[in-house]
Amino acid sequence: MKKTRKETKMNDKVVTIDGPVGVGKSTVAKILSKKLNYTYLDTGAMYRAFSLKVLKAGIKVDDIDKIVSLTEVTNIEFSGGKIFLDGRDVSDLIRTKEIDDIVSQIASIPEVRRFMRSAQRQIASKGYVVLEGRDCGTAIYPEAKYKFFLTASVEARAKRRMNDEKYSGKYSSLEEVIESINKRDQIDMSRDDSPLRVPEGSIVIDTTNLSIDEVVNLILSYIK
Ligand code: DC
Repeated sequence: MKKTRKETKMNDKVVTIDGPVGVGKSTVAKILSKKLNYTYLDTGAMYRAFSLKVLKAGIKVDDIDKIVSLTEVTNIEFSGGKIFLDGRDVSDLIRTKEIDDIVSQIASIPEVRRFMRSAQRQIASKGYVVLEGRDCGTAIYPEAKYKFFLTASVEARAKRRMNDEKYSGKYSSLEEVIESINKRDQIDMSRDDSPLRVPEGSIVIDTTNLSIDEVVNLILSYIK
């Protein structure tokens, strides 16, 4: 029989989890990947590691040409749950207020996104992977069979971030966290290249009143 339209083959060995700042994506994705015995790919960590390099190089966030050139001499890899920037473990250096302040702006540069996406897609195409970030189900791997989008109220997200030990002491008040969250969400949603959106065919989960385990179990109930 002749096929009349191009059919996209869904990959049931790729799970994507997208959502705004502080919604619990990383924690959920990490637990889920362990339960499924899949690789966990924290795509935001890659933008953070690259932002660290921009910061250390003393390049201003609006110096697009210099930032784009930097991608050509950058190598980002994951190993043993750690992220390596040019061979150095930077896992403990990328979750700071300084990085929070610049990462969304750097992630809005199309050439930077292209650089990241090519590496991310390569990892995803091997399958057995949980991709977590902002554009996993829309741009990195839209053909994933299981796509999830997590949401929560801004207050709930800010409280979670304040209680996150990785961020402890890095923000002085809840108001400061809310301001940072709103600013980043706004940049992530309004950029031209692969903005934060609910992916077509995804399942939206409001996590405001759910525990991490409840979210993980809900996701597993769709996958199994
Ligand atoms: O998930 P996170 O807070 O660690 O992500 C840091 C930033 O990276 C986020 O503000 C926007 C950007 N990002 C992105 O643009 N696309 C992704 N797939 C993941 C993160």
